[in-house]
Amino acid sequence: MKRSAAFLVTLLILSSIGAPWAAIQNFDCETKRSGASRPHSVSVTEFGAVGDGVALNTKAFQNALFYLKSFADKGGAQLFVPAGRWLTGSFVLISHLTLSLDKDAVIIGSSDPSDWPIIDPLPSYGRGRELPGRRHQSLIYGYNLTDVIITGENGTIDGQGIVWWDWFHNKTLNYTRPHLVELMYSTGVVISNLTFTNSPFWAIHPVYCSYVHIKNVTILAPPDSPNTDGIDPDSSDNVCIEDCYIRTGDDVIVIKSGWDEYGISFGRPSTNITIRRIVGQGHSGAGISFGSEMSGGISDVRAEDIHLFNSLHGIRLKTSPGRGGYIRNIYISGVTMKHVKMAIRIQSNYGEHPDDKYDPKALPIVNRITIKNVTGEDIKLAGIFEGINGDEFSGICLSNIVLNLAKPKPWNCSYIKGYSDMVSPELCEPLKGELPEDSSVCYGDDNLRPQSSSAIRLLTPFKKFRSFS
Ligand SMILES: *[C@@H]1O[C@H](CO)[C@@H](O)[C@H](O)[C@H]1NC(C)=O
Ligand SMILES: *[C@@H]1O[C@H](CO)[C@@H](O)[C@H](O)[C@H]1NC(C)=O
Ligand SMILES: *[C@@H]1O[C@H](CO)[C@@H](O)[C@H](O)[C@H]1NC(C)=O
Ligand SMILES: *[C@@H]1O[C@H](CO)[C@@H](O)[C@H](O)[C@H]1NC(C)=O
Ligand SMILES: *[C@@H]1O[C@H](CO)[C@@H](O)[C@H](O)[C@H]1NC(C)=O
Ligand SMILES: *[C@@H]1O[C@H](CO)[C@@H](O)[C@H](O)[C@H]1NC(C)=O
Ligand SMILES: *[C@@H]1O[C@H](CO)[C@@H](O)[C@H](O)[C@H]1NC(C)=O
Ligand SMILES: *[C@@H]1O[C@H](CO)[C@@H](O)[C@H](O)[C@H]1NC(C)=O
Ligand SMILES: *[C@@H]1O[C@H](CO)[C@@H](O)[C@H](O)[C@H]1NC(C)=O
Repeated sequence: MKRSAAFLVTLLILSSIGAPWAAIQNFDCETKRSGASRPHSVSVTEFGAVGDGVALNTKAFQNALFYLKSFADKGGAQLFVPAGRWLTGSFVLISHLTLSLDKDAVIIGSSDPSDWPIIDPLPSYGRGRELPGRRHQSLIYGYNLTDVIITGENGTIDGQGIVWWDWFHNKTLNYTRPHLVELMYSTGVVISNLTFTNSPFWAIHPVYCSYVHIKNVTILAPPDSPNTDGIDPDSSDNVCIEDCYIRTGDDVIVIKSGWDEYGISFGRPSTNITIRRIVGQGHSGAGISFGSEMSGGISDVRAEDIHLFNSLHGIRLKTSPGRGGYIRNIYISGVTMKHVKMAIRIQSNYGEHPDDKYDPKALPIVNRITIKNVTGEDIKLAGIFEGINGDEFSGICLSNIVLNLAKPKPWNCSYIKGYSDMVSPELCEPLKGELPEDSSVCYGDDNLRPQSSSAIRLLTPFKKFRSFS
C-alpha cells in the first residue's frame, strides 16, 4: 500500500508541474483579456510624432489616445510606437488599449519637470511619499481603466531619471518624484515584453488595481540611484509578476498597501499575489520586500524561484508601530542569493511616518510567514527577526535554509515566535521549535511536514488520496 501511494504521489506531482498554482488558488497568471488583437491600430506618427529624440511628442500621444477612445466599444485599439527615439512628457492611457512598441522604439521621458503634471497624493498615503503635498504624475499614467496592454518586442521606456536623482540629492525637488508607469483603480492590465530604464522613482506602480499581469520585463537603474524600486504592487489584488529581470538601486519587488492613518482608513489590502521566476539585484533594497507601507494589509503572497545577487537584503518585511494593518499568509520558496548582505530581515522599527497624526498604538500584525528552500553564498549576516514588545510576530516558519557566511554570526531575534527545520547557521531559540503539523500555523504547508511540502502542497486538491498511506 505504501509503495503504491508513493507512486501515486509521484504521478500527481509530475502531472502538476507546469501549472503548480492553478489547482490551488487562482492567482491569475493566466491572461484573461479580450483585446489580444485589436481591430483598429494607429501609429503615433499619424498624429505628428517625430522620433528624433529632440521633438517633444506629448501632444501626439495625447491626441492619438483621444482619437482611439472612440474604438472602446469596438474591441479597442492599438497605439503603435515605431522604431525611433520618442521624447515625451506624461500621457494618460485609455481603456481597451494596447500600447505597443517596436523593438527599436524608445519612449524617453522629458527632463523638464513641467512636462510631468502635478496631481493629488494617493488617498492611502495622505501626501506625496517623499515630500508633503501633491506629486508628479507618472510618464505613462492611467486611472479607472479596464483592459489595458502595454507591450512591445523589448522596446524601451526610459525615464531619464538622472535629473530627478540630482534634484533629490541636492534637495531641489518641489514634489514627490514620478514613476515610469502608474495605473490607479484599473482592472485587467498586462505589462509585458518591454525594458524599463532609469525611472525617476519606482518603475511600475499598480495602485488600487485588480488582475494585473506583469511578464517578461527587464527593469534597469544604476545601483546608486535613489528609490528606484522595480515593481510595487500597492493596495492591489490578483497580481502576477513572472519571468522578469530587475536590477535597481532599491527594492526589486515590494508589496505595499498605504501609509499609517491614511492607509488604515483607506483600508484596501494587497492580496492574491504570485511572484515567480525573477532574477534581480536590489542594491540598497531587497529582492522580495513587504512594506514599509502596509497599513491596508498584505496577505496571500507566494513567491517562488527567485534569484538574487549584489543586494543589501534578500527577503525583507518592513513595518513600524503606527502602521496598523497586517502582513500574513506569505509563502516564499526556492530562493538563491549571492553576495547579499543580510539574507532575511523582519524589521519592526522602520519609522518614516507621513505626519505626526499617526497612532503609535496602531500595531501591525505579522504572522504565518513561511520561508523555505533558500540557499545563500557570500552572505554577511543571516538575519534579524524583530517583533514589537507587546506585539509578538508569530508563525514564522523556516525550513531548508543554508546560508554560507564569511564569518559565523548568530541570527538576532526579539519578540518573535515560530518554528524551523534544517536551518543553517543555527537559529535563535524562539524559532527553534519543531514545525507543527497544523496548517493553520505555517502557511502553505497544509497538514504535512515541510521537508516534502513543496511537493505535497501541489496535492492539496487531492487530499482524499491521503487515505491511501
Ligand atoms: C483571492 O483568491 C481567492 C482564491 O481564488 C478568492 O476566493 C478571493 O476572492 C481572492 N480575493 C480577492 C480580493 O480577489
Ligand atoms: C473614476 O471612476 C469613479 C467612479 O466611477 C468616478 O467617480 C471618478 O470621477 C472617475 N475618475 C476619473 C478621473 O475618471
Ligand atoms: C520575452 O520578450 C522577448 C522580447 O520581446 C521575446 O523574444 C521572448 O520570446 C519573450 N519571452 C517570453 C517567455 O514571453
Ligand atoms: C531586452 O533588452 C534589454 C536591454 O537592452 C536586455 O538587457 C534584455 O536582455 C532584452 N531582453 C530580451 C528578452 O531580449
Ligand atoms: C541640482 O541638480 C540639478 C539637476 O542636475 C541642477 O540643474 C541644479 O543646478 C542643482 N542645484 C543645486 C542647488 O545644486
Ligand atoms: C522648484 O520650484 C522652483 C521655484 O518655482 C523652480 O525654479 C524649480 O525649477 C523647481 N524644481 C523642480 C525640480 O521642479
Ligand atoms: C510577448 O512575447 C511573446 C513571445 O514573442 C508573445 O508570445 C506574447 O504574446 C507577447 N505578449 C504580448 C502581450 O504581446
Ligand atoms: C529549491 O529551490 C531551487 C532554486 O529555486 C529549485 O531549483 C529546487 O527545485 C527547489 N527544491 C525544492 C525541493 O523545492
Ligand atoms: C540584536 O539586535 C539588537 C537590537 O536590534 C541589538 O541591540 C543587539 O546587539 C543585537 N544582538 C546581536 C547578537 O547582534
